[in-house]
Amino acid sequence: MSGKITLSVIKADVGGYVGHSDVHPELLKKAEKELESAKKEGLLIDYSRQKVGDDIALIMTHKQGMDSVDIHKFAWETFEACTEVAKELGQYGAGQDLLADAFSGNVKGMGPGCAEMEFEERKSEPVIIFLADKTEPGAWNFPIYKMFADPFNTIGLVIDPNMHDGFIFEVHDLIEEKRILFNCPEEIYDMLVFIGAPSRYVVKNVFRKSDNEPAAATSTQKLFFIAERYVGKDDPVMIVRSQSGLPAVGEVLEPFSFPHAVAGWMRGSHHGPLMPVSIQQDTPTRFDGPPRVVGLGYQISKGRLIGPRDMLGDVSYDNARRVALNMADYFRTHGPFEPHRLPLDEMEYTTMPGVMKKLADRFESTKVVD
Ligand code: F6R
Ligand code: MG
Ligand code: MG
Repeated sequence: MSGKITLSVIKADVGGYVGHSDVHPELLKKAEKELESAKKEGLLIDYSRQKVGDDIALIMTHKQGMDSVDIHKFAWETFEACTEVAKELGQYGAGQDLLADAFSGNVKGMGPGCAEMEFEERKSEPVIIFLADKTEPGAWNFPIYKMFADPFNTIGLVIDPNMHDGFIFEVHDLIEEKRILFNCPEEIYDMLVFIGAPSRYVVKNVFRKSDNEPAAATSTQKLFFIAERYVGKDDPVMIVRSQSGLPAVGEVLEPFSFPHAVAGWMRGSHHGPLMPVSIQQDTPTRFDGPPRVVGLGYQISKGRLIGPRDMLGDVSYDNARRVALNMADYFRTHGPFEPHRLPLDEMEYTTMPGVMKKLADRFESTKVVD
């Protein structure tokens, strides 16, 4: 197939089964049916209907380019159709991520999460798509940094001449809605000032420096900022291309051998480990978690999604799972105390403002008056 293809991953939580733990098979069936007819009509080259926890992910290849109104409209309408099924089955939080009353041009800013990438398919095109539940977009900062900027993770940065120049990171400020490009490795110290604060700064895209080839893309939506009230988690997705001058599959997976602490557990208000899991283990349970990630491997061929292979289900991640479960115990023992609970400025959407208001008159000054 000649010419560029676009890989779009658009996801939403349109109803949980039971609570916020899983997606009912009937919703998945509905999504599958819509995807199949879009493929038959020629809108899509191929699709893979996936999920993690209570989120449905529409993984699509097509020729419509990034930010295509037709693709985004299709995704929105598919989620609407799934919402109808969710309502009928009394699913929890039916339609929760569809924040607008009607679609208007692009799903970005309307609730669903979206990661897209346009590229010329290589002779062989291995891609890994990560889906996470009970966390926020900044959760990818740590693993994406390891993959594309840390030689202790990715030895290819040192010994593969095609990667040796490094990568360009596009970082977004979710609060002021600005972006900046960092050249790595030259600017890693500057970049880490920002991406070490993942609740505000997130890596949106990564490009190979030598030829600007797109290497990774994430979803950055933050539902809290969109809705200005708490409506659920942002549960992000990430696309990573691999091999032949990009990190090897094993280098892409390696960061998940350490279940780093992320925000988003219980009520979006707690830190916990990001546990790598198999597709069969993608349903958060304990304290609505712990947060988890699945890795879906595809070989893209003529635009077709050959896969997925369940990349993080492998036995070599058992130890990470064990560490994550121990970390879960450790964090849970803190109960309502930080650092398990998020800091106050990230809890504004909870009871905090109300309690502050109620007690405002009872606070007495302790200032030493001079
Ligand atoms: C949702 C989530 C859950 C909910 C919790 C309370 O993605 O992570 O932890 O925040 O179950 O949900 P509500 O407020 O709907 O009862
Ligand atoms: Mg939910
Ligand atoms: Mg979710």
